[in-house]
Amino acid sequence: MADPIAALSPHFSRALAAAFGAEHAGQDPMLRPSNRADLQSNAAMPLAKKVKRAPREVAEALVAHLDSPDFTRIVERVEVAPNGFINLTLSPAWLGTAVDEVAADARLGVATPARSQTVVIDYSAPNVAKEMHVGHLRSTIIGDALARLLEHVGHRVIRQNHIGDWGTPFGMLIEHLLDVGEKEAVAELSVGDLNAFYKQARDKFDSDPAFEARSRQRVVLLQGGDKDTLAQWRLLIDQSRQYFATAYRRLGVTLQDGDICGESFYNRDLQAVVDELQQKGLATVSDGALCVFPPGFTNKDGEPLPLIVRKSDGGFNYAATDLAAVRHRVGTLHADRALYVVGAPQRQHFAMVFWTAREAGWLPASADFQHVQFGSVLGPDKKMFKTRAGDSIRLIDLVDEATERALAVVTEKNPTLDEATRGDVARMVGVGAVKYADLSSDRVKDYVFDWDQMLAFEGNTAPYLQYAHARIRSIFRRAEGQAADLGAARVSVAEPAERALCLELLAFGTVVHGIGDTLQPHKLCTYLYGLAAAFSGFYEKCPVLKAPTPELVRSRLVLCDLTARVLARGLELLGIEAPAQM
Ligand code: ARG
Repeated sequence: MADPIAALSPHFSRALAAAFGAEHAGQDPMLRPSNRADLQSNAAMPLAKKVKRAPREVAEALVAHLDSPDFTRIVERVEVAPNGFINLTLSPAWLGTAVDEVAADARLGVATPARSQTVVIDYSAPNVAKEMHVGHLRSTIIGDALARLLEHVGHRVIRQNHIGDWGTPFGMLIEHLLDVGEKEAVAELSVGDLNAFYKQARDKFDSDPAFEARSRQRVVLLQGGDKDTLAQWRLLIDQSRQYFATAYRRLGVTLQDGDICGESFYNRDLQAVVDELQQKGLATVSDGALCVFPPGFTNKDGEPLPLIVRKSDGGFNYAATDLAAVRHRVGTLHADRALYVVGAPQRQHFAMVFWTAREAGWLPASADFQHVQFGSVLGPDKKMFKTRAGDSIRLIDLVDEATERALAVVTEKNPTLDEATRGDVARMVGVGAVKYADLSSDRVKDYVFDWDQMLAFEGNTAPYLQYAHARIRSIFRRAEGQAADLGAARVSVAEPAERALCLELLAFGTVVHGIGDTLQPHKLCTYLYGLAAAFSGFYEKCPVLKAPTPELVRSRLVLCDLTARVLARGLELLGIEAPAQM
């Protein structure tokens, strides 16, 4: 095992059991990077409270049992600080071998899980004939990063794009389509003018009673399965689908047409959902609507809040569809885990849906269904991110602007790049910057969209990491013969800066697995930023191509190469490309 924290944990468990009894073996050894040594264990603090002894005494008792040959192979020096911290200095030989192992591992130290799970990830989910907005942008970026990461770890990921492709607005959308003519409608929709189309339909619906009546009639025809109406509906879906696909391609998002499983997919199940809820006595009629009242949900007057599954006009709604989706994801897709990457305002909706699905027996206790919520994107004025005119920002325009701005930044940084490469790099930097800005802040919080900050070459940004990666690659362009066949080279660890870099490199696998559990991509960003910083420290203190011996040149080249690979892999898991030169 390459990660020293993972390698040392069993030793601490054994020592805890030997010194304090088997019941303490499971206690977290609380091993962390330290600035006094390589690692520290804070295990003595909580234990001291439990056994009512001084932390220092507890630490010493523990250390007395940390003496197996396997332990001393990993750890060169153990010190107990007066306050009870246990400081550990790792053996340079062990560190070197551990890094060699990771360098030879195509997975860079990311272990495969003991049991591979089927994970459904519900993300992006824009609405047909409506523009994707920045809320969908967050879902798309975060969901895609989680999908890439969990897939890489070794789980079976099923992407589900739960698009809004059904409901009463389709009545007016189809009537509008008929008014302007199919050809004209397709022309408007194919250029991505979804907002305008929707708005025109909406305006007529609000101002023209005859149009409104026709629209309502059209909804009835659609629900009744009228052939022509369905064909017109499909036309609208196809146009939007193509438009979404373009947006995903431009953003470098892995969602494919086959991942679309929209609301309409569940129509055939809705009656059964409602019937079962009624049979199980979970649903009651309130004001004509069929409702479930999950306990613990009340409005501000303390009255129970309903989850409405069928409206008083007989139409099924969003909640009914989501209940059918849970049933499908468990029953047909066999999900062990499902992640719903949807904005924070829908928190209550999902809590109520999951509660109802559990009660109804559709969601077994063994299945872990979670709402992976996120905050809003704010403009510089700290209000919802909008255009100057107050409209919501189109995702496609955002990608265009990002690429344009990145081109200016890249051109300034490196005017000698040829035009084709520069265009390519600008795309990777622009899209990368937007994604990284989103992923690097704690997802549950709001964040401020700031072009200058996200495109800066300093700080925790995509361009900084991409540049760090490209700079390392440029060392290899200069290394020529010295870098031949590094596979045979052995890493030796002498300088503190080398040691610090090695520790960072060895942590990659643990970090990736941690994010698979906690679903916090910002921790991968923080890690990569720390790795890039450790690399600059190393590069400043330790000459690479001019190192004193050929062995040391090769050892340091291995560290350079591995750093570049970890940076590129980490960015790839976030959905960000790393150009070889910038
Ligand atoms: N289409 C919805 C929206 O734009 C999001 C759907 C999220 N997924 C779900 N299973 N409800 O708000």
